[in-house]
Amino acid sequence: MSSETNQHILIVGGAGYIGSVLVRVLLEQGYRVRVLDALLYDNHSAIADLLNNPSFSFIHGDLCDEATVREALRDVTDVVLLAALVGDPVCKKYPDLAQQINDIGTIHLIDQLVGRDIKHLVFMSTCSNYGLRETDSEAREDAELNPQSLYAETKVKVERYLLESTSRFDFASTILRCATAYGLSPRMRFDLTINEFTRELALGRDLLVYDADTWRPYCHVNDISRAIGLVLDAEPSAVAEQVFNVGSPGENYTKRMVVELLQQRLPSAQVRFQEGKVDPRNYRVDFSRIADRLGFRAKVTLTDFVVELIDVINKGRFADGDDQKRFYRNS
Ligand SMILES: NC(=O)c1ccc[n+]([C@@H]2O[C@H](COP(=O)([O-])OP(=O)(O)OC[C@H]3O[C@@H](n4cnc5c(N)ncnc54)[C@H](O)[C@@H]3O)[C@@H](O)[C@H]2O)c1
Repeated sequence: MSSETNQHILIVGGAGYIGSVLVRVLLEQGYRVRVLDALLYDNHSAIADLLNNPSFSFIHGDLCDEATVREALRDVTDVVLLAALVGDPVCKKYPDLAQQINDIGTIHLIDQLVGRDIKHLVFMSTCSNYGLRETDSEAREDAELNPQSLYAETKVKVERYLLESTSRFDFASTILRCATAYGLSPRMRFDLTINEFTRELALGRDLLVYDADTWRPYCHVNDISRAIGLVLDAEPSAVAEQVFNVGSPGENYTKRMVVELLQQRLPSAQVRFQEGKVDPRNYRVDFSRIADRLGFRAKVTLTDFVVELIDVINKGRFADGDDQKRFYRNS
């Protein structure tokens, strides 16, 4: 990526867990970046240190508000859509708001992009859309979607809208179905499996794990940000109307495998397992398309990261996690 780009990227939801890492990756790559974010979790500190950067601008507002979106789109060349109520629990708790933001508001925002000379739209979707797979095979992008929650249903709805409306669009739209994220971020989330399990066990707490033999893919937040950067850097014709799974071969795990990996580093860790179909999702995912077409290779493995997070927690960082639940969790 050259540092002479004229691309000016709007990241909607850029103060969140993935967004606040992505913003820094794109600024380093020479892009100008604007964030539109409603700061639902009082997460202003995740981008506060960027406010003096001349290549960065911030608009505090709601993606559902048409005038705010119009202002945010001024002079922008590309849009990354991250904002949503993210995760099954928060969508279940606030179902009307989830529909309003993740579905109705997001689709309305997409419609507002037409006629603005936008080059790329990257829509952040999720591998959760594969939901409950009846087979052990890894899901490719053309596999049947089987959402198990309102969260995934709203993501599937926007995906369908994007794929069915392409004739009306004058920009290249790309859907990224992302593995469950882990890693350090200026807006840390400890309601994500790897971050949560590692923190709880590193702090010497008992961990209760539901549905331990269900599979999921995982990907580091820096690698996810690099994948988004690859799409923004690609020729629009190479990524238009495309769906890519974002993750890495060999990085599908059951929760039991994650626990075993953690217990190798934390031998006294106490874990109880409970079968209860609390979370029925069970999916393994194939990541060859993004590797073959965009050359994406993840740099971090789950094994690397748990060592890093245990070390960080042992040094006392995130000791305030329980006091700052709102900042560290989507609930
Ligand atoms: N974190 C993961 O494991 C994961 C995995 C797959 C896909 N994704 C997708 O990646 C995206 C980002 O996830 P995240 O983990 O960073 O979530 P997050 O909750 O940390 O970030 C979302 C951000 O969007 C903002 N936002 C929410 N509603 C808004 C609105 N109406 N207007 C403006 N801003 C609003 C929030 O304030 C927050 O800063 C989401 O679309 C999510 O579905 C995440």
